[in-house]
Amino acid sequence: MTRLVRSRRLGSILDAIGNTPLVRMEKVALSAPSVEVYVKLEFCNPGGSVKDRPAYRMVKDAIADGRLTSDKILIDSTSGNTGVAYSLIGAAMGFRVQLVMPKNVTKARKDITQAFGTELIFSDPMEGSDGAIRLVRKIVEENPDKYFYPDQYSNPSNPLAHYHGTAAEIIDALGDRITHFVTGLGTSGTMMGTTRRLHEHTPRVTCVAVEPAEALHGLEGQKHMASSIVPPIYDATLPDEILPIGTEDGWDMSDKVAELEGLHIGHSTGANIAGAVKIAERLHREGRGGCVVTIACDRGDRYFAPQKWERRYSW
Ligand SMILES: Cc1ncc(COP(=O)(O)O)c(C=O)c1O
Repeated sequence: MTRLVRSRRLGSILDAIGNTPLVRMEKVALSAPSVEVYVKLEFCNPGGSVKDRPAYRMVKDAIADGRLTSDKILIDSTSGNTGVAYSLIGAAMGFRVQLVMPKNVTKARKDITQAFGTELIFSDPMEGSDGAIRLVRKIVEENPDKYFYPDQYSNPSNPLAHYHGTAAEIIDALGDRITHFVTGLGTSGTMMGTTRRLHEHTPRVTCVAVEPAEALHGLEGQKHMASSIVPPIYDATLPDEILPIGTEDGWDMSDKVAELEGLHIGHSTGANIAGAVKIAERLHREGRGGCVVTIACDRGDRYFAPQKWERRYSW
């Protein structure tokens, strides 16, 4: 296992995927002083999110077994971060990328993916990420030979990237100290892959899935399973606990983490950290102590609304 070395010399931007740092949260977890809370900074991946790992693994595995060849277009549905990852990987490796996304995703997300030369296809914003899944399936069904459709919701390479990467790195950094792992469910790849590896660890780590408390929520990237198409890679028996977190709590924690820790993170990460702090408080109350790890999926600046001046270039 390669440890994080800041001054690495890399042959390609793709070699910068993984080996992200773990940072201790102290001030936001002051209510649980006997418990360590760490956040793994997945925004340090070159695409700025946790999705670089699964996207790269899905592409590499597909090239290895012939599903992705140079004449094919990679197409998938994405709420944004996986799209950024596919786009940078496509640009770096030299294949075309098309993305289906709900029309209402942030302007920043659309701009970032297009900057890599990716083509965008928009689905009905009222149908959310499930509408994007339905549309991409229809496009691929109509022209199956034209596309490589990784389908991050069904692709075992997605959780495998976390089994071999995210989880292995957490164990490498913390060893037997880690007692709990907490993260949200989108495709569920992070939760499934990391949990499988951490359950194999001795002593066995307790893994908690954060889920939006409401069906209609503002935690972009996370799924409310009961009201969504359940991803085929999701195994409901794996999480040791499901912890509902409200949109307000996720957003409030994002603000708090920026102000108190100097870390500006997105709202799904706010929900993850809110969940980790809740678990830490419970452990502290029970006098058990512990070490809780969660994931910083992306940074807060990915959610900034466009400013008016961005559209006016008058000189
Ligand atoms: C911002 C954000 N948070 C959380 C997630 C959830 O990660 P996963 O798909 O591994 O469940 C995603 C994934 O799409 C995401 O983009």
